[in-house]
Amino acid sequence: MELLGSAASPFVRKVRVVAAEVGVDDRVVFRPLTSTPVDPNADLAEVNPLAKMPTMKTAKGEILYDSRVICEYLDDTVGGVNIFPEPLEGRWQALQEQALGDGILDAAVSIRYERNIRPFEKRWEGWLEGQFGKLRRALDKAESQAEQLYDRVDIGVITLACVGGYLDFRFPDENWREGRKKLETWYEVFSQRESMITTAHQ
Ligand code: BEZ
Repeated sequence: MELLGSAASPFVRKVRVVAAEVGVDDRVVFRPLTSTPVDPNADLAEVNPLAKMPTMKTAKGEILYDSRVICEYLDDTVGGVNIFPEPLEGRWQALQEQALGDGILDAAVSIRYERNIRPFEKRWEGWLEGQFGKLRRALDKAESQAEQLYDRVDIGVITLACVGGYLDFRFPDENWREGRKKLETWYEVFSQRESMITTAHQ
């Protein structure tokens, strides 16, 4: 299997954490590349019309995207781990947390593009504030549910852990831990997992 993307992308990291947790990371060859909405990588666009990362080529040559599909594929490839739990074992909670975390990451990456790619004179402060509002409200929601995050290794908690890692990496001034003590305490434990350490943003 080949994974196309940048190690700086939180969605790529999410896939790499899942690969490590299900024990297939040694079968995933990471192909680092850069791509942005205004300068899409040609190799990526050739296999994924959206030119978005992560994109995976499976051993059979199938092309998979986005991170949700790839993570489910990896989980399916290996039996018995259940990164995507069964319906009676917390599936909807985990999927809801994944959606919450992905939404935070979408907002954060949009802010980064707005600040780093969009020409300064075209920046729209109101739009940026809207993205920050989404991100902060969603983090507050995660804080309100933080006690339910312990003793789990599934797609919900992996996504929320990737949120913490990406905000530390790209938004250190946001101080996401402030006022979110329960989420912080859980994150400090989860981020010690080997899957999180070996995939940390540099
Ligand atoms: C980043 O550098 O923050 C980044 C890179 C690729 C995708 C998303 C974010």
